[in-house]
Amino acid sequence: MARITSSVYTSHVPAVGAALDLGKTAEPYWAKVFSGYEFSKEWERQQRPDVIFLVYNDHASAFSLEIIPTFAIGTAAEFNPADEGWGPRPVPKVIGHPELASHIAQSVIQDDFDLTIVNRMDVDHGLTVPLSLMFGQPQAWPCPVVPFAVNVVQYPVPSGRRCFMLGQAIRKAIESFDEPLNVQVWGTGGMSHQLQGPRAGLINAEWDNRFLDRLIEDPDGLSKVPHIEYVREAGSEGIELVMWLIARGAMSDIAGGPKPKVVHRFYHVPASNTAVGHLILENP
Ligand code: DHB
Ligand code: FE
Repeated sequence: MARITSSVYTSHVPAVGAALDLGKTAEPYWAKVFSGYEFSKEWERQQRPDVIFLVYNDHASAFSLEIIPTFAIGTAAEFNPADEGWGPRPVPKVIGHPELASHIAQSVIQDDFDLTIVNRMDVDHGLTVPLSLMFGQPQAWPCPVVPFAVNVVQYPVPSGRRCFMLGQAIRKAIESFDEPLNVQVWGTGGMSHQLQGPRAGLINAEWDNRFLDRLIEDPDGLSKVPHIEYVREAGSEGIELVMWLIARGAMSDIAGGPKPKVVHRFYHVPASNTAVGHLILENP
């Protein structure tokens, strides 16, 4: 059977992708951001995942106000980097895993979660920047990825509670897939940031670090935080953090297993207008 071995959490700041693509990673401003991912890249070389289930949000690249799926699973064989206005990022195309994705769709929909099935979709910085942070600049990404897009851009957005419960259904789905795959579940986006309006540039380091503490120790309690607290305390785009609860809900301890091991934690301000947070949890 497939097994979820770990979960990875990271911000997906687009300027981080641009810094990589334009060869600016050694500049002092960016070196501090990338230093938090040196451990992670080495860890990934050892972990050698077979598939990544990657929870992210689309930023009006694949979807627009015409179609707003709350939860969308990518079942295609491949996904191209999206053109977000400056041409697609010069990164490898993303290879999907249609069999696992279809199995997850079947299981999770029968478990009463409504998913939109997407057979064709470009993937934006929400998905490609985390891949770059964790794997650097390879010729090809080291494994297939199942993209899972969550609407956190256009209201109404799903609650943290819903995301946490969905993560539990995703765990059940992955661990009933009849192939011995090493699967990682990633939750991306965040941390505190607001990109527009009078509060643009808002950062709340204390709230962010408390979020990280609770994600590790008290995910059930954290999942009950209402969306308005994210917006008030972490800025309008801080709501992206509900996606981390999907990955956390997929860990073994939520289904009665032992607590995960914290193998890496990183927090840094600023990157662009954003606080960068990063966490890796392993199932024992
Ligand atoms: C920015 C955009 C994002 O989608 C995000 O999550 C963080 C920062 C930005 O434009 O700076
Ligand atoms: Fe974002």
